[in-house]
Amino acid sequence: MVAEGLREHLVAYFEEHHKLVEAPALTLLLDQPQPLLVSRDVVERVGVASPLVTQEIVQEVIAERGPHVARGPSASVPGAGGAEPSAAPADFAVVRQGFTGPSREATPIAGFTQLFTSRYRQLAPLLRGRAGLENPRSLRDLRPGEGLQSVVGLVREVKTTPKKHHTIVTLDDETGSLELLVPTGSAAARLTFLPDEVVGLAVRWSGPRDRLPVVTAVERPDVPARRRTSRAAGPRRSVLLSDLHVGSKTFLARDWSALVEFLAERGPNPELARSVDTVVIAGDLVDGIGIYPRQERDVEIPDVVEQYAELGRRLRELPERLTIVAVPGNHDAVSPAEPQPALPAALARPFAENVRLLANPSTFSLGGTLVTAYHGRGFDDLIPALPGASYAEPTEVMRRMLQMRHLAPIYGSRTPLAPAATDGLVIDPVPDLLVTGHLHTYGVDRYRDVLLVNASAWQGETEYQRMRNIVPHPSQATVVDLQHLGYATVDCTGGEARIRGPSG
Ligand SMILES: [Fe+2]
Repeated sequence: MVAEGLREHLVAYFEEHHKLVEAPALTLLLDQPQPLLVSRDVVERVGVASPLVTQEIVQEVIAERGPHVARGPSASVPGAGGAEPSAAPADFAVVRQGFTGPSREATPIAGFTQLFTSRYRQLAPLLRGRAGLENPRSLRDLRPGEGLQSVVGLVREVKTTPKKHHTIVTLDDETGSLELLVPTGSAAARLTFLPDEVVGLAVRWSGPRDRLPVVTAVERPDVPARRRTSRAAGPRRSVLLSDLHVGSKTFLARDWSALVEFLAERGPNPELARSVDTVVIAGDLVDGIGIYPRQERDVEIPDVVEQYAELGRRLRELPERLTIVAVPGNHDAVSPAEPQPALPAALARPFAENVRLLANPSTFSLGGTLVTAYHGRGFDDLIPALPGASYAEPTEVMRRMLQMRHLAPIYGSRTPLAPAATDGLVIDPVPDLLVTGHLHTYGVDRYRDVLLVNASAWQGETEYQRMRNIVPHPSQATVVDLQHLGYATVDCTGGEARIRGPSG
């Protein structure tokens, strides 16, 4: 039951935000189209004033949100033909869509200020009160000679001193900005600080003669080590795909046909195929037009509308009983800045009733198992910034995303970020399953009970990838058991489906 699955997740959400939620308040929240969005407003309104969330508070927040809630993003997801939402299985529920509309601020600078304030306000409460961050102070109130203190802030800049290679972190909070020293080789320097991530720092500032406060320990928002999880109640499975690139000359049509045959129960292990009821696609549904220089040499279908028509045909090859949930990627015909809105209704016309289009990223519940689907442009900045990270090992980077509780924190580099009132790239709530794409590589791993899948691709190597020295690992479909989070891989290379696993 959706309500049961989501109920557990909402309780966990409030717990992580140090709130106790009364039963009638929880019931009211579960009646909302996007319970988590309302819950976030509730947490914000209650602030530190009370540990209790009552029905009255929830009612007030719902009244303030007004009709906006009823017509929220989950209700505006186009179904086939861009009409009103198509019928979806009773246990499919959108929990959060990253895209919540364009910034209403007058200038881009004001819009980005609002975005970073939102990031700080979403993540700082997860760090406050944590063991290891004793004697919390705002940056303005940090004083020399007062023993161990702690601060929570957003990293504005990271520098290295020329001689001793200490790290200097410039941290911002809502009261100001301060430089702090992280001694080279210390435990605090073990993980590289990234620009625009939110961190909690334990700090020793011995006396006025110390130029900078010294960081003695670092806490990241992270996934709680022990958390309440809720999983699908019965045996059911989802297939995870990404980066179809329909319309490209290198779309792997034979491998795709092998996947179609498998899902139609005409391949190996038809029982496994029969238990699949959803397909999740993590973006780059089509190859697009003008995404990179001279792309026209690489496309089979030079018209983007035609590419989506062909995608519609390809998706209709899959059994009708499957619900297909798709988010866009940087090759799709929506604004490239993240978070991206769902594909517009005009382009969704060729799709059948069973296709659900959501924003990138989005979090949804499949019978109680929470799935976050994110295309993954953020990899382009995180891989160069993290020592040892590589395109071949995507799940290492996904771990770091979870530790930061953010999918693409770095501003002003390769990933364009959209200014918005709410930072929709923050990971909250924690999903049971995080699926990404973009890299065209395949990787499955776990981090603290979260299954991480970078979901391969259905496009062969392109000239562009050769030039950038990226070796793809295409034609791998992941079949995830939503009840136990075990998985199997359906390898469709060479136009024949072979199953590895299940594992888990
Ligand atoms: Fe792609």
